[in-house]
This record gives sequence, C-alpha cells and structure tokens, in this order.
Amino acid sequence: MAELGGKRVVLGVSGGIAAYKSPDLVRRLRERGAEVQVVMTAGATNFVTPLTFQAVSGRSVRTDLWDTEAEAAMGHIELARWADVILIAPATADLIARLAAGMADTLLTTLCLASEAPVVLAPAMNRVMWAKPATRDNVERLIARGVTFLGPGEGDQACGETGAGRMLEPTDIVDALSAAPPGGPLAGRRVVVTAGPTREAIDPVRYLTNRSSGKMGFAVARAARRAGARVTLIAGPVGLQTPPGIERVDVESAAQMDAATREAVAGADVFIASAAVADYRPTNPADRKIKKTEACLSIDLTRTPDVLAGVAAREDRPFTVGFAAETNDVEANARKKLEGKGLDMIAANRVGEGVGFDSDDNELQVIWPGGESRLGPADKSVLADALIALIAARLEDRGD
Ligand code: PMT
Repeated sequence: MAELGGKRVVLGVSGGIAAYKSPDLVRRLRERGAEVQVVMTAGATNFVTPLTFQAVSGRSVRTDLWDTEAEAAMGHIELARWADVILIAPATADLIARLAAGMADTLLTTLCLASEAPVVLAPAMNRVMWAKPATRDNVERLIARGVTFLGPGEGDQACGETGAGRMLEPTDIVDALSAAPPGGPLAGRRVVVTAGPTREAIDPVRYLTNRSSGKMGFAVARAARRAGARVTLIAGPVGLQTPPGIERVDVESAAQMDAATREAVAGADVFIASAAVADYRPTNPADRKIKKTEACLSIDLTRTPDVLAGVAAREDRPFTVGFAAETNDVEANARKKLEGKGLDMIAANRVGEGVGFDSDDNELQVIWPGGESRLGPADKSVLADALIALIAARLEDRGD
C-alpha cells in the first residue's frame, strides 16, 4: 500500500510515555510511501533516543532550534516549507497548550507556526488532563483553526487509570491519515451526514421502514472525510461498519434522527441528508404485540418531523444538501424539493426496481440554484467523491 506515496511528513514527537510507539509509527508511514523527518522536543528525548528515530527514518533527527549545523543544512523555515503535513504523535497537553497559544519557543512549535502545511495531532495524556477545561479549550481553539485531531483512544493508561487519553495505535494513525490526507478541499470544515432508513414502531416487535441500506450515505461520509472534513454520521439501522475517522451516532426512528441532527448540526459547515427518513409513523404504537384477531387492520399514521427542512430553516444553517428519491418525473420533483425546502443543493436519483436503494451503483442529477451536473452511473463511492467536489466548489464560489 502506498496511499501516502511521496508525501513529506514532519513527525513531531513530544515528551510523553506514548513516545515509545512513535518509532513504529515512522516505520508504518514509510511502508505507505511517506518520507519522514522526525523533530523531537527536549522532553521526548527522555523517552526515546534520537538515534532510534534516525535508524528507522533514515534521516538525522532535529531536536534544537539553535543547532547551527542542522540549521545550515535545512533551516527551520525550509523544513516548514518542505512538509506536506506536520503530524505530532504523541501530542502532550503541554504541547497542545503551546500550539493553542501560538508559541514559537521550540523547534517543533516554531515549525507549526511557520508552516502552511496542515497540522495533525495524536494526543496522549492522563484522562483527567484530557478532560480538564483548559485542555478542552485549547483543543477547541486548535480545531477552529483547522488542526485535525486523531484520537485519543480510550482504555488502560500508563499511569494505571482507565479512560480517554491513550494515543491511537500507529496503524490507526496511518490509516486515518491515508483515508483523509490533510489539506483536502474540505479541510477544517465540519460535515454532518444522515444515512440509512428509519424504523417507526407499530408495536414492540413490528415497524414501518424502507429499503435503504445506508450505502449511499456512508459513501458520502467517507468522501467528506477523504476531502479533509470532520464528519458526524447519523445512521439509521444499517449493517455497515463505521468508516475510519468518522464520528457515528446511531438512531432508529425519524424523531431520534431529528434530535441527533439538531444537536450535531450546530456549528457545522455542511449538512447532507442522504437518509431515507420515514415520512409517517404509527400515531399510537401499541405497547404490546398486536394480536391477529381482525381480518383487516388499519393503522393511523402521523407525519414525522422533516429533518432536512428543519436544518434548512435554521438561522445558523450550514450549506444544506438534500437528496430526492423519485420513481417518476425525477428532475421536476427534485426542483420542487430544492425550492420548497429552501436547499442549497439537491442530489436526485431514480429509485425502485433495483435502482437507487440497496445497490452498489447509482446515478445522480445534482441541482443547485443556477447550475446542475449529471453524475454516473457509477459506484456510490465514485459518485460520493464527485458530489463532495461539487459541494466544495460551491462553498468556494460563495466565499464561505
Ligand atoms: O441507502 P441506499 O440503499 O444506498 O440508498 C440510497 C438512497 C436511495 C436512500 C439515497 O440515494 C436517497 O435518495 N436518499 C433520500 C431518500 C429520501 O427519503 O428521499 P425523499 O425524496 O423522500 O426526501 C427528500 C429529502 O428530505 C431527503 O434528503 C431526505 O433525507 C429528507 N427527509 C425526508 C423526510 C423526512 N421526514 N426528513 C427528511 O430529512
């Protein structure tokens, strides 16, 4: 695998016990084709020697801003320009605080300030330090400036405690970096995607639903992540694995999808509604299994909340993209939904008889005020990449 082929990675290592994993991270990055230049803080050299990193990276390691010999070979400004990405693993609470404050007191913090390359942090610290308001504030400030965080993971910690604060494993860091090379067209953006069907209870064992598999929405979430966005995926009941680096919220009913979306969408840049949300739910679901006593049974139905229209009506609305699933008059119906719900864009697809729902391929007609584009037929992941590229282009046109 060489997904990072030719990428120049400055790997910053700060002084935490998780630094013992960083030589392995260098090996994994190089296996994927990256060139790696290690920069250590003074604290990091207490945990692992520069010689170890030199051996695994094949390059002499930089530790000091005031190293005249090293500065003569490749000065810190040249190094800042050389980097395609600056990955810091482990990133300690102290280093995160220095970056948040914009300090340039060590070679590593100076590089981060002097470089236009995207910065990716894999935090590692005691769970209490990670949870402290000071750290939370610093993390939020860095995220708002476009810094990407990978992890931390949860589990046993070197200090004997259990909780959030473990550095992700080197393979997980490299997988996440490969899945979303930083600096993509949605880098620094937050995207919320809905996917899959909803289930509306008739009684404790039966429900109304539809044929959505979630494939289209999961492909859209993966594509947004590949484009560099932070992605929240709100998924109805589907049998799909969570794509790497994506935050997933599982829901069942339309009401739950609506509530989860309201929470996730605050402060988001883009909302993409690819879920097939049930339009109606049984008005009074029975609290016991309904017995088959009658020859004919009627179920009273009530409209569900329109999740997409709710987002489009918000004052702080993100760029709002709907889907339109149509069996007939695809374009005309999609245009009605675009205008009726006040959307920024709609992706229309024909559904029924093996197309649209639960298939690997699809075909989309993407319409926005003043433009349109026909995509496919193609695999849903190819369509998702193309849809995300259209959204990124519209955001850029609007100067957002
Ligand atoms: O999941 P797959 O098997 O891969 O299939 C993909 C898909 C066909 C489900 C997908 O491509 C698609 O078309 N999704 C939208 C399905 C749908 O419900 O379309 P609609 O035309 O009924 O709704 C219009 C829009 O309003 C959609 O963005 C929908 O998410 C949204 N909506 C609808 C009703 C509701 N109560 N809340 C909503 O947010």
